[in-house]
Amino acid sequence: MDKIIVRGGHALRGTIPISGAKNATLPALAATLLTGERVHLSNIPHLKDVTTMLELLGQHGSAITIDEKLGVEIDNSQVNNFRAPYDLVRTMRASILVMGPLVARHGQAEISLPGGCAIGSRPVNLHIEGLRKMGAQISLDEGYIRAKAKRLRGARIYLNPVTVTGTENLMMAAALADGRTVLENAAREPEVTDLAIFLNKMGARIQGAGTSTIIIDGVEELRGTQHRIIPDRIETATFMVAAAVTHGDITLTDTDAESLESPIQKLRESGVVIEIQDAGRIRVSAPDPLLPVNLETCPYPGFPTDLQAQMLVLDSLAQGVSVITETVFENRFMHVSELQRLGADIRVHGNVAEVHGVDHLLGAPVMATDLRASASLVLAGLAAEGATTISRVYHIDRGYERIEEKLQALGADIQRTSG
Ligand code: EPZ
Repeated sequence: MDKIIVRGGHALRGTIPISGAKNATLPALAATLLTGERVHLSNIPHLKDVTTMLELLGQHGSAITIDEKLGVEIDNSQVNNFRAPYDLVRTMRASILVMGPLVARHGQAEISLPGGCAIGSRPVNLHIEGLRKMGAQISLDEGYIRAKAKRLRGARIYLNPVTVTGTENLMMAAALADGRTVLENAAREPEVTDLAIFLNKMGARIQGAGTSTIIIDGVEELRGTQHRIIPDRIETATFMVAAAVTHGDITLTDTDAESLESPIQKLRESGVVIEIQDAGRIRVSAPDPLLPVNLETCPYPGFPTDLQAQMLVLDSLAQGVSVITETVFENRFMHVSELQRLGADIRVHGNVAEVHGVDHLLGAPVMATDLRASASLVLAGLAAEGATTISRVYHIDRGYERIEEKLQALGADIQRTSG
């Protein structure tokens, strides 16, 4: 299994491009199942999760052409298999996103229940209940969700709690349903908005994406189109924290600050200098000691849960005490015990982490537990004195494209070793 070795103490300097958003790519790939015409997606990141989703589409019968530079072209005219098998779904729970499109266009789907993961039980009851409200007959047996529907019909669906992929799944299903669907308390994430833009390009009739109420008027069929995936806001903010904790000065390109209001505000509170330049460029530097920032994760536009682990590293190196509260997932502090091995002083009480800043971290062997936790270990290694060896780095590859190459380009001493 690959490991990553980071030798800290180098202030990051230079310019790197941000990749397309993983959490916009996965629903967009699933949405191609809604049409039999060709769809072209560009700015696709090269990530394990994207490869997994393409594999899943291939099993459904999609014809996929990948062009390294230009993206991916998908032809779903021959889709004839409606099963998402356990061996794929267990490696990537976002596979559930094919359920809405398959039921909407083919009237059936057989999706393995994703099961839990490191950060929480992560049920999919809202996805299932929403489809039932739209008229699907759904049974759960032998670990599979079996859904059937002649034609889905519009419904009013209240989502509680706010669910990103639940909103996406039901929005896709509603696009081909008979009549109007209203999603109340819908997720407002930029990736939901980007999916709605993509679906409307295919001929869907969706209003209100980005607000808590999304209205979808179903149509008979959707057509092929092309779409460019939005930049990855979580990758962007992860590199901002990397600049902060190494007191570096970096410029990020091909990105978009608009969806990062809350993280940028918190980083500025901590003393990080952030210059939003034109054409998707953001310059980030941290000349002064970091100040502690308190935060609470919540659905967009609040502070993203996917950045909580990264901010724990920043606060661990800030001058003072801070409090970070995780309200979205029930078990998303797995990285704390690993950060403590590096000398962080973090005290967890339930879903609250009390962070006492230390003046330095010391490198040590640590283990990645989930995608964003593994990114926080890389950040800690960049700041720590000595070498940090991170095992189980397959977690990182799920969500960060060539992270060690991008960090090397910024002057980090970081290598990947296999075996
Ligand atoms: C999406 O996961 C993201 N994944 C996650 O990113 C992200 O952390 C999460 O949204 C929250 O922002 C993708 O977009 C592929 P949820 P999702 O449904 O949709 C509960 C990453 O690192 N819930 O918004 O699975 C759930 O348990 C990943 O890129 C139900 O109770 O998250 C959680 O407490 C990690 N029933 C809360 O809602 C349901 O049917 C939010 O989960 C669905 C969700």
